Parts: sequence; C-alpha cells; structure tokens
Amino acid sequence: MRSLLPNTAVIIPAAGSGERLGADLPKALVQLVGRTLIEHAVANLSPIASQIIIAAPAAYVNQIRTFFGESVEVVAGGQSRTESVRLALALVRENMEFVLVHDAARALASTALFEKVIAELISGEKAVIPVLSVSDTIKRVDKKGYVSKTPNRSKLRAVQTPQGFTREALVWAHAQLIEGTDDAALVENLNIPVKTIPGEVHALKITTAQDLETATKYLIGSSQVDIRVGVGSDAHAFSDDPFRPMWLAGLLWEGHPGVDGHSDGDVAAHAICDSLFAATGLGDLGSNFGVDRPEYAGASGSKMLQETLAIISAAGFEIHNVSVQIVGNKPRIGGRRIEAIKALSLALNGAPVSVTATTTDGLGFTGEGKGLSAIATSLVVHVRK
Ligand code: CTP
Ligand code: MG
Repeated sequence: MRSLLPNTAVIIPAAGSGERLGADLPKALVQLVGRTLIEHAVANLSPIASQIIIAAPAAYVNQIRTFFGESVEVVAGGQSRTESVRLALALVRENMEFVLVHDAARALASTALFEKVIAELISGEKAVIPVLSVSDTIKRVDKKGYVSKTPNRSKLRAVQTPQGFTREALVWAHAQLIEGTDDAALVENLNIPVKTIPGEVHALKITTAQDLETATKYLIGSSQVDIRVGVGSDAHAFSDDPFRPMWLAGLLWEGHPGVDGHSDGDVAAHAICDSLFAATGLGDLGSNFGVDRPEYAGASGSKMLQETLAIISAAGFEIHNVSVQIVGNKPRIGGRRIEAIKALSLALNGAPVSVTATTTDGLGFTGEGKGLSAIATSLVVHVRK
C-alpha cells in the first residue's frame, strides 16, 4: 500500500501548552486510554506518511524523540501554531510531493481521513481540508457584545485537520510570514482554491477536560481497545512470632500480630497483584516473583504492586480500576480504609482502588482467627498498537 502512495510528509504541530485542558503536562503528552495524544496521532497517520515531523514543546523534544525513535523527526515549536508549522516545514525533504498538517490535539482522526485528503491531492487539488457542518447558529458580535451579523448557517463549516497541500503551495503560503489559526487560511490568502471534504466527528480537537472524556468514550467503544478483567486471591496464617509486623493493604498495623509468608504477607496487595496478572494474562505472582527469588524475601506489598504495574505497563496495559476485599476478624479495616486506599493507589501510580472488608461469621480459618485472606478484581485496558 505504502509504495503506491505519493511521497507525503506529515507535520504535527504539538508545541502548545494545553492551557485550557489544565493538565500539568503539555497537551500532546496527556494520556488518553493508555497512550499519549501524540502517540495516538502518530499511530493513526503512520500508514500514509513517508516523513513525520513533530513540532514539540521545547522542553519535551528529547522525551518525544525517545517515544518514536528514528521514525519521526522532532523540532522545537514556536510561539504560535503557525510558527511551529513553519519551523517543521523547513525539515520537509525535497522529494515530498504533498505535505499534510495535523494537530496533535486531534488525536483520533482516522487513517481513512488522511487517505481521503491525499486522494483529493492526487486528483489535482492543491489544498484540501476536512470540514463539518455546524449545528449552532453562529453570530458575529461587536466589541460591546451586540450582534452585528448572522451569517447563513448553511454556508458555514467547522474546520478540522489533517489539512493537505502540495508542497509548493504550503511553502509559498508560509513564506508570507503571516499568522492564521489554520494553514488553509494562509493558502486562501494566495487565492489558491481550497477544497473541502467531509470531516469526522472523532477528529474533534481535544481542548478541554470534557473533550478528553468524549474522546475516551469514542476510544473505549472502538475495536482498538480491549477491556479485560482478572481475579486474584491470597491467604496467610497468623504467625507464632509475636514480633512479626503486620502489613496489610500497604499499611503497618501496630499492635497486631503479623502473618507468615515469603514477603511481608500483605494479602490485599498480593491479591491485587494476582488479579492484575490474571487480567493481563502475564502469569501470576509465583511466576513473576517466585519464592526462589531472594530479592523478594520480605518485600513490601507496595513494592510488589509497583513491580506488577511496571510489568503490565510494559506490555501496554493500563489499570482502569481495582477492587479488593479483605476477609478476617482483625484488624478492623473501616477506621483506616481511606489510608489503605491511598497507600494501594499510590503504589499503582494513582489508579482507582476500592477496599472493602468482611468477617465470615466464625466460619473457616479466617472466622476462627487463624489467618487472613483477600480477594481482588482488576479491570485493565489494552490499546492495540
Ligand atoms: N500548537 C503548536 N505551537 C504553538 C501553539 C499550538 O504546535 N505555539 C499546536 C498544539 O500543540 C495543538 C495545535 O497547535 O496540537 C492546536 O492548538 P490548541 O488546540 O489551541 O492547543 P494548545 O495551544 O496546546 O491549547 P491551549 O490553547 O488550550 O493552550
Ligand atoms: Mg492554543
């Protein structure tokens, strides 16, 4: 397929700070169901691109380079979107026939949309933009807040990216050194006809936290995402050693007898680890941290959770949420539930955790006060690369 396509470079302006989204990272690096926005954008456009150039926030150029390795070029962006595009345009190779410009913020624009833009360029158009009709009536308003004009809505369109151009048209447009909120505006200024094609609802520009939620819903409903559930349990007997510390749910319980075990015996943490391994199909607690591994002797439940998270993250999974129930007479969990949730969640890099507890009406080893057990369920999400 790729060899049949014309040489096409894609420029991704991604240098904005994402002020309206309000995250503590630039918008392109914000996570959307297991990947950053820039990774989604690159994954969707890679099949059609002969060259990919990202204009990145200056402080994140190296980080973005390490995401993609050799497959993309990364340049520090400018003060405005137009300047960011211009800086990236300087790196477009001579043999590129077409140049597409695509906002990292429109992370979910499909490969098919890119293909449609290119098809129009192949048929001879010099500039092509995807658009959607607008459903709201749009008014022009003066400085004092009074309506000055109501344009005919049927003639208005909301404009998206990817916007495609012949290399010559885009280079000429940017050589004018004027600003525009999109690239087509610069090309229009040269009286080059700009062809519109139908855009995509999924290609929304992720601007606010609400947009990020909308994009999450689109993605979770798509075949790109796998949602998997797993169950894990663990049990340990109380120790005969009165000085053995009691670790449970990532917390130290002073004055309570501890349980026996190779590690610290934190049944809640271990049940969660196993549920995560079960959900992801990556073995279990024994196969990953077996009793034959001396480095895990006495290991804390929090450390096991962190290591489990590292293993499942490396395989492309993200935790949606985790629920654990502790079964036993003592200690009473209720008074420290919030602390326990915080400790477990912290070990899982902030994943949502819930903690419940129950006794068994005097039945079984937990009811007889001989030990503790826990059962956990995890929901994980896997984004297909
Ligand atoms: N952009 C850029 N260089 C800039 C400003 C914006 O490359 N100096 C990019 C953004 O990273 C984004 C696209 O242009 O992919 C569209 O901009 P916008 O959605 O407004 O993103 P931000 O500027 O990051 O967001 P905000 O305006 O809320 O700060
Ligand atoms: Mg902006």
